[in-house]
Amino acid sequence: MNASVSMADPAAEYLALKAEIDAAVHRVLASGRYVLGPEMEALERELAAMTGCAHAVAMNSGTDALLLALVAAGVGEGDEVIVPGFTFFATAEAVTHARATPVFVDIDEATFNIDVHDVARRLTSRTRAVIPVHLFGQCADMAALDALCRDRNVIVIEDCAQALGADFDGRNACTWGAFGCLSFYPTKNLAAAGDAGMVLCADAEHARRLRMLRHHGSERTYEHRLVGYNSRLDELQAAVLRVKLAHLPRSRSEARDGIRSATRSRRKASPRACSIRSRYIASPRTAPCTRRYRFPSASVRRPRCFRCRFSRSSTRRRSSGSAT
Ligand SMILES: Cc1ncc(COP(=O)(O)O)c(C=O)c1O
Repeated sequence: MNASVSMADPAAEYLALKAEIDAAVHRVLASGRYVLGPEMEALERELAAMTGCAHAVAMNSGTDALLLALVAAGVGEGDEVIVPGFTFFATAEAVTHARATPVFVDIDEATFNIDVHDVARRLTSRTRAVIPVHLFGQCADMAALDALCRDRNVIVIEDCAQALGADFDGRNACTWGAFGCLSFYPTKNLAAAGDAGMVLCADAEHARRLRMLRHHGSERTYEHRLVGYNSRLDELQAAVLRVKLAHLPRSRSEARDGIRSATRSRRKASPRACSIRSRYIASPRTAPCTRRYRFPSASVRRPRCFRCRFSRSSTRRRSSGSAT
């Protein structure tokens, strides 16, 4: 039997904001400035302010955000980078493109996020970086990971592709690691009308390298100091993202209302698929107290608190898989 439940509805999102998006698109087309322009710079400023990061560097995808963060951090051949066994393919793919070796670790059975105990077990003298992935809008245990990595000179690169607006212990996703990588793929909570991504960081030199890397290693026209990439965010995507950013829920209750109404529409559209899904497919649960679930991905069932469960020593299981 075939049954499907759609993960996102980009066209409905466009129709809800049609007048504003159309005006933004026309503004860019009429300006004649299509890459590395004022819309992208404004978006960078707005997301830096929202997350509390000093620097934001827009890119053309979340995958490139991960790759360029790894390269800017100096990760390369001979290095190991620890990644969770359950994530979207791009997390490990970026490590491979940086010519380093991805080392897969287990996930926490309850949250589906990286298991920090297993990270500790897999650290070697070659470990250069760890990429925690904050799946479905919920942060990995960043306090424990930070404590583990800080004194060992291991760089933390957060994969925040699914976690814009989330925080751990009151500290925003993207601000725990040396780099925070965002994706604005059309199914994300802040969704472009195509591909787009961004790296957030605190260090000015990291930001400078990222800006060069995304633009063929150049700071000034035809002066190429590095062998870089073409990973510029175009102005049309930036303008669309700015419209949607202004409408992103600013509180948890607002986000929950959005999820409830999306869930209702999905149930209405495909009741049978929804009932099969909720009966047989496990979804992650929120950790209590410190983990906030502010802007979760609408694709996942609203999680229950599992305070009691979390305080018990949990059993872990080996896992690998994919989560877009
Ligand atoms: C966890 C995770 N990492 C990385 C990516 C890659 O982002 P993009 O599709 O923008 O390249 C995604 C997007 O699907 C993702 O969900």
